[in-house]
Amino acid sequence: MKGVTVVEHPLVQHKLTLMRKKDTSTSQFRQLLKEIGGLICYEVTRDLPTETIRIETPLTEMQAQSLSGKKLVFAAILRSGMGMLEGMLELVPAARLAHVGLYRDPATLECVEYYFKAPAELADRWVIVVDPMLATGNTAIAAVDRLKEAGAKTIRMACLLASPEGLSKFRGHHPDVAIWTASIDERLNEHGYILPGLGDAGDRMYGTK
Ligand code: URA
Repeated sequence: MKGVTVVEHPLVQHKLTLMRKKDTSTSQFRQLLKEIGGLICYEVTRDLPTETIRIETPLTEMQAQSLSGKKLVFAAILRSGMGMLEGMLELVPAARLAHVGLYRDPATLECVEYYFKAPAELADRWVIVVDPMLATGNTAIAAVDRLKEAGAKTIRMACLLASPEGLSKFRGHHPDVAIWTASIDERLNEHGYILPGLGDAGDRMYGTK
């Protein structure tokens, strides 16, 4: 699908398999989500703009590459976005953070906003939306709507698993927002869960079930 990159790196796929297993413990799940977050972040930021700067090594001067432009913004969708965010921050510790609190109404599967806080000058920054599960697509669509309303112009989406239904709905609403995921699974079930999936990412990460 146009604008969708599946990160097929063997380390990502291996870690994802461990996360899918129902007997994987909460602490292992959390650790794996953090590690995959970093690996997916690496792919999402592959074409970040750089500039040439003059530096001195202990031996001589040289022209070297340095990230250019304003700091990145990682926009985590609460609560499961927090797990992936940790690994991304290890890679880009200077990134700014936005938090988007949205929950899915279990009856309608529509999302309801309960929290939003983002850095200033979003228009000049690369914004990477972080949500492990792109299921119905409703949450991701609402989060990107909100970030655009707040001024964001350059937006990418990092997730772990996506459903075909969610992907096409999301791309229909936000064709300018490219997505990176470790897998496009088979389909959604009647409760809006991804199949075969890995269950409820938030519950598995925080041990709340
Ligand atoms: N959210 C989850 O945590 N899992 C799914 O399968 C769908 C949405």
